[in-house]
Amino acid sequence: RFEKVWLALALVFILGLISSIVYGAVGPGIEMIDAEGGTVDPQNLDETEFADPGVEQVGENEYEVYVVAKQFSFDPGTPANGVIRVPANSEVTFYVTSSDVVHGFEVVGTNLNTMAIPGQVSKMTVEFGDPATYGIVCNEYCGAAHHAMEGRIVVV
Ligand code: CUA
Repeated sequence: RFEKVWLALALVFILGLISSIVYGAVGPGIEMIDAEGGTVDPQNLDETEFADPGVEQVGENEYEVYVVAKQFSFDPGTPANGVIRVPANSEVTFYVTSSDVVHGFEVVGTNLNTMAIPGQVSKMTVEFGDPATYGIVCNEYCGAAHHAMEGRIVVV
């Protein structure tokens, strides 16, 4: 009889854990709302939403950011490609892919962290709070300049 109670408690605990991962605060000033994935043809990014990657406003306080990771930069993100600039108190959905090898997309100091895999799209919706600057680093070894592959998100 008690096994069922324990089982139920364990289930509640696990569900709580999962929801705290998906819905919990990921770091100062950022809250994760949703995360999922999709696919894309890495040979033909020019014919997808990744043809012209960048920040796009899609609602009053809603933005979409398409990011292509490639050796050894984020486009956008790396200053040479233009940093990612979004308004404070906005809901932002990131779509991240790679046009060559596997990269990482980690927002420094937060749990916002995904892989950038050729052929796959990592989708993450987050809420940004107050103005801040966040660093982005590649945390998957991707070649000679892996350590220098970085970018910035500026919340203004
Ligand atoms: Cu890109 Cu490491």
